[in-house]
Amino acid sequence: MEKDLQAIVEGAASRLKTVSSRPDWESLKATVLGPKGSLTQIAKGIGQLPQEDRPVLGQLINKTKGELEGIFKSSLIQIEEKQNLEALGEKIDPTLPPPSNFTGGTHPLTNSRRKIVSIFRKIGFTVAEATEGETEWFCFDALNTPDDHPARDAQDTLFLNEEASWNNITRKNEEAYLLRTHTSSVQIRTLFREKPPIRIIAPGRCFRRDTVDATHSANFHQTEGLFIDKQVTIKDLKGVLDFFLKELFGNKVETRLRPSFFPFTEPSFEVDLRAPNIGKLSDRWIEIMGCGMVDPKVLELVELDPLEWSGYAFGIGIERITMLLHGIDDIRHFYNNDLRFLNQFNHGS
Ligand code: PHE
Repeated sequence: MEKDLQAIVEGAASRLKTVSSRPDWESLKATVLGPKGSLTQIAKGIGQLPQEDRPVLGQLINKTKGELEGIFKSSLIQIEEKQNLEALGEKIDPTLPPPSNFTGGTHPLTNSRRKIVSIFRKIGFTVAEATEGETEWFCFDALNTPDDHPARDAQDTLFLNEEASWNNITRKNEEAYLLRTHTSSVQIRTLFREKPPIRIIAPGRCFRRDTVDATHSANFHQTEGLFIDKQVTIKDLKGVLDFFLKELFGNKVETRLRPSFFPFTEPSFEVDLRAPNIGKLSDRWIEIMGCGMVDPKVLELVELDPLEWSGYAFGIGIERITMLLHGIDDIRHFYNNDLRFLNQFNHGS
């Protein structure tokens, strides 16, 4: 009998070594100490033994029971400890410094776009938007661009397949879809939607079939500006652009308009800027944006009477402005997602 009891203890102890979860532990315990367990069965057999043997055996069974309960209890503690450690995951060393306190931030081009928008908002412009996918009529025809203008060439513009169909982008005729080459198409969409007077700026992404180098990228960003009212003059245009560039580059900035050509403005100008605080380019005249008075033909195409309405338009390259503001000499930095570059523009975060 003593041997049987000893075997039960040893058997339980060795099987407990393979148990790693509470349910397995419960069912093993039941096979020994439960109502049908091996120790309980032996205890039940006591009644069949001679009267004089019973006390000794009773004591022995109780002692074994105590021993087994002890073994089961300490095994449960071990199982639970192990499970707790697993739930906590890998060991950590709380004395190490944190890996990084960089929490992400805005892209330098986003910062510039926001700055540009906030400057124009101060003087009554609102933001207009249109899709990056456009149609040839809105990107070129409506902007008085002749059929044989080089910008329309498939070498310069990314056209979509003939089968392409974008139901959310209205077409004038059955013209081709393309990726807009400038934000000037937003002028046209806005002029069809709203009645003058109009004061909008339209920041957005543009696409050209350019070979990427330090100053060119196949996708880039512009902010269009459009002002339509009665008796608008070049003086109004110059005044607004001077205000904008002073807000951006400081009061010491000088500007000049140089004659140029765009199919949708007449007369057209390049805006040059000279500033004392733009690094290597300080105190030199630099070309910064295009602008002009809205061509009467454009007004006619959007069904406005050019004798009643007039206006000006301008186009700002967001990359160009950002490069000048921060002395960046390669446009590709903007798109490489190199944190060593990007982190320099997020001191606050
Ligand atoms: N759309 C012209 C460009 O992409 C810029 C521009 C806009 C010029 C508005 C004049 C008026 O080069």
